[in-house]
Parts: sequence; C-alpha cells; structure tokens
Amino acid sequence: MSVTTATPASPRKDGRTPQSILPTLLEMQGWSDYALLDMGNGLKLERYGRFTIVRPEPQAMGQPRLPQKQWDRADAVFTGDVEEEGPGRWRFNKQLPETWPMKYGPVTFNGRFMSFRHVGVFPEQAAHWDWVQDQVQQSGRQLKILNLFGYTGMASLLPAAAGAHVTHVDASKKAIGWARENQEMSGLSDKPIRWICEDALKFVQREVRRGNTYDGIILDPPKYGRGTKGEVWDFFTSMPEMMACLRQLLTEDSRFLILTSYAIRASFLASHELMQEHLSGLPGSIESGELAIREKDSPRLLSTSLFSRWCNPEGAQNK
Ligand SMILES: C[S@@+](CC[C@H](N)C(=O)[O-])C[C@H]1O[C@@H](n2cnc3c(N)ncnc32)[C@H](O)[C@@H]1O
Repeated sequence: MSVTTATPASPRKDGRTPQSILPTLLEMQGWSDYALLDMGNGLKLERYGRFTIVRPEPQAMGQPRLPQKQWDRADAVFTGDVEEEGPGRWRFNKQLPETWPMKYGPVTFNGRFMSFRHVGVFPEQAAHWDWVQDQVQQSGRQLKILNLFGYTGMASLLPAAAGAHVTHVDASKKAIGWARENQEMSGLSDKPIRWICEDALKFVQREVRRGNTYDGIILDPPKYGRGTKGEVWDFFTSMPEMMACLRQLLTEDSRFLILTSYAIRASFLASHELMQEHLSGLPGSIESGELAIREKDSPRLLSTSLFSRWCNPEGAQNK
C-alpha cells in the first residue's frame, strides 16, 4: 500500500487567492487484503481479503474494464436498494462465513456483511491511518489521541500499536464490541485504549468542561447518527458546535486534527473519469475541480458544484 499526494496543499499564509487553493488527492492503492478491482455501470467490484464483493457505486459512471464473467464470479453482491443509505441486502453466490479475518500492518480485523452495504472497514481511510502512524512515530513522545465515531476501531488500533494513548468514542455498543474483538485478534489487548460508548458531541462537551486536551483528534462522522440516549447527529447542523469544542481540546502544542466527511458523496473525480473515458482519443487535456463563489469583501469560498473541462489548445486554429 502506498499513499501519494498528487497535488500539494497550498501555502495560505496571507491572501487566500483562488489560485492558491489546490485540491489534494490522497490516493490509496490497496494492499494485500484490499483491492478495488473494477468499476462501472454504477457498481464497484472489490476484494476484501479472500472474498470479492459487488456493491453499488453511483459515481462509477463509466464502463467496467474486466470481463463480465469476473463480475459474475463475485462471492457477494449487495442488492435491493438503490438508496445510498438504504438497508438493502446481500446475495451470496456460495456459503460464506459470518466473519472473515483481514490484516492491515499490525492489526487483524474481522469483515462482516452488514446492512447499509458496509463490511466493517473503509479502506480509503488507510491514507489517514498511515499518516497518523507517521505522526505518532515522528513525535518522539506518547501522543494522546481522540478518535470520534470510531466504528470498528482501525483508527484507534493502528496508532495504539505505534505507541499512542487512544480514547475511542462511539455510540454503538455493537461497534465497540467489534472494535474490541479486533483489538484482541490483533494481540493488542495490552495497549492503552479507552473505549467509550457515548454520544460524540456530549463526550467532547464534557472534555471541554474538564479542561482536557489532546495531541491529535480523528473524526469520521456520518451524515446522520444517533447518540446513546437518542441524541441526533446531523453533519451540517452538529458540525459547527463539534468544531468549536474540538478547538478547545487542542492547544498550540497539539499535532493534528483529521476530519473525514462522507456527507457529500459526489467528487470531481467522477465527472473527470467519465470525460476521460469518452474523450480519450482526442488531443489536449482535462482538468477538473469544484466551482466556488467568493464572498464579497472576504476570503471565504462557497462550493457550488463540480466541473470537468477538456481543452485542446491546438484546436480550431486558422492553419
Ligand atoms: C465511522 S462513522 C461513519 C462511517 C462512514 N464514514 C459513513 O459515513 O457511513 C459511523 C460510526 O459513527 C457512530 N455514530 C453515529 N452517531 C454517533 C453519535 N451521535 N455519537 C457517537 N458515535 C456515533 C456509529 O455507531 C458508527 O460506528
């Protein structure tokens, strides 16, 4: 597995001009227990450990590369729901175990066929796992890390294995049970991880009142969620309060804050790849990104849409 940064984050010391904001692509290329094998026609074909899986992927608007028979041989197919967040169901092409083990570095974790098309791990997060492990190793002291909405624990177990002290928060008892199962399977039971089953926002509000701080914070909030007492988590309305609290849990000596948001599922890469596929025989190049509106008399940007733009500078010239 290797992670590459396609375009560097821009320095933004002074005037935040539009040209100074370049998207950074954190690219995850798979590892021995995960591969994105193919995509197209609104589906993706992946391998998780020893099983291949087909799941809906609205952004895979192009054509698959591999022959249909390879897709037909998939061990499990998620069907029955076109809704992004719908429960849907799995169809199995042979008898499969309820769980199966996979590895990422020092961590062994179980896959499970869950509702909402999940299998217990978000492989693209490996880009963050590696980066956090680097931070832990480079810091030269035991980092105190907070992992919110921690799910099955990958972002807690990996830094803990590298020497960090981790506080893992999730509102689901089941998810915490699964994360602890992964901890045990990985032989990391002696590592300092505090498992906390609580509403994430309530927990950070309490940490602010206690005056606690962290060296690093990771959060991967869903679009909608529920706390242990039915508290409503809504990404767009809860995130401002969450960010205000997180600021108070960080000091000038803290090292990182990573926020992943799946609330916006479309990416400029989807239209870029589609245009690339259909225009591939033409000269010129394609650039893609987002359109944003700049606020009057302010450096703030509002993203409105994605774009892809093909240009052939040699075209339509008087020859
Ligand atoms: C890892 S996150 C999101 C995963 C994925 N990125 C997505 O968007 O579906 C899902 C986790 O957040 C937890 N969760 C949801 N609402 C929560 C809340 N209010 N407080 C704490 N954890 C919550 C869930 O139990 C689940 O384990």
